[in-house]
Amino acid sequence: MDEVTLTLHEEKVSRVVVGSGALSRLAGLVTGLDPLNVLVLADSGVPDSIVDSVVNQLEGRGMTVSASSVGGGEGVKTLGSVEKIWRLMVASGLTRRSVLVAIGGGSLLDASGFAASTYMRGIKLAYVPTTTLAQVDAAVGGKNAIDVGGGKNLVGTFYHPDIVVIDPTILANLPNHIFVDGFSEVVKHAAIRGKRWVSWLLTIADAVMARDEKVLNEVVRFSVLTKLDVIRRDYKERGARVLLNFGHTVGHAIEVVSGYRISHGKAVAMGLVAEASLATKVLGLPMDEADLLSAALTELGLPTGIGYSAEELVSVMRLDKKFLNGRPRIPLPRRLGDFEIVEFEWGVIAACLSELTH
Ligand SMILES: NC(=O)c1ccc[n+]([C@@H]2O[C@H](COP(=O)([O-])OP(=O)(O)OC[C@H]3O[C@@H](n4cnc5c(N)ncnc54)[C@H](O)[C@@H]3O)[C@@H](O)[C@H]2O)c1
Repeated sequence: MDEVTLTLHEEKVSRVVVGSGALSRLAGLVTGLDPLNVLVLADSGVPDSIVDSVVNQLEGRGMTVSASSVGGGEGVKTLGSVEKIWRLMVASGLTRRSVLVAIGGGSLLDASGFAASTYMRGIKLAYVPTTTLAQVDAAVGGKNAIDVGGGKNLVGTFYHPDIVVIDPTILANLPNHIFVDGFSEVVKHAAIRGKRWVSWLLTIADAVMARDEKVLNEVVRFSVLTKLDVIRRDYKERGARVLLNFGHTVGHAIEVVSGYRISHGKAVAMGLVAEASLATKVLGLPMDEADLLSAALTELGLPTGIGYSAEELVSVMRLDKKFLNGRPRIPLPRRLGDFEIVEFEWGVIAACLSELTH
């Protein structure tokens, strides 16, 4: 098991524990925050056995615990759900001496993180991610957001949880479509690290799909430590962190155009393939490296073809908060492991995408 402490500034430290069995560490870590009381907020899709074990663990340490569930999935990332969470916090008597423990997928963590960062201008927060995507990506990094007016992630804050407990054994029983979703972010992290990591994923893909506990543990650990390394260098997205957006410009547009019927993970898989293809054209990314990326995604059960027109995608991309004042700037690989931020004219990006989508 790895424990990483991120010191963000003198007042804020984020402790991330990752590895099989990590869940058993939660109550001890929460005790260290010395809370007056705790609200456990669960994603309605999470099995009761996980939520009960968390509540029992906390109560076993003598804490005053309330528990509630809100919806799960992208639909929870609305102002309405956030208001519901704020009201639950008031009803549970939460103060700045309290801890919110959020258990769920990336959507529930995003909505809870936003609620926790704004309630009383910020209360203590612990995350227990329960989907692959939430474990390998969403739970670390301190970004949260909700969807507003048809735009994805338009309103949010930077707010690092005090504690993140990432236990890959939770992934063993996930429905397959939720299980595979997170691997697009793992492939993205491997692309940021370099070709040999993408090749490594390809060699272990069968064991990952068979949910081999040891291999899953390695993959989740690799992904979390890679993301933490980027965040440590740039936690407010002013530099290196922009690389984490690889695949997400086209990916977010696909999610929105599909009306969120295509999940974040699958949309990012398609976005990675589309953006790698852009990179072969504008930066000379070798074709075999783009193919390697596609092969890893396919072997990890993810789709790679885009079923929407370039016009539809570009009209949505123009709403992306990162581009509201100008042209799209997209991190693309010159080689796997060697990225550059490329600024496009909208016309150029539309032309490139229409080659891919027709
Ligand atoms: N903040 C970040 O840095 C960051 C990074 C990546 C993604 N995200 C966000 O994460 C969201 C996607 O997260 P996701 O892929 O985890 O999906 P999700 O949170 O939307 O959950 C998908 C489904 O899984 C269910 N679920 C959760 N845990 C389960 C379990 N243990 N067993 C069975 N079902 C379970 C949920 O109820 C939901 O129906 C997107 O909104 C994306 O924007 C945020």
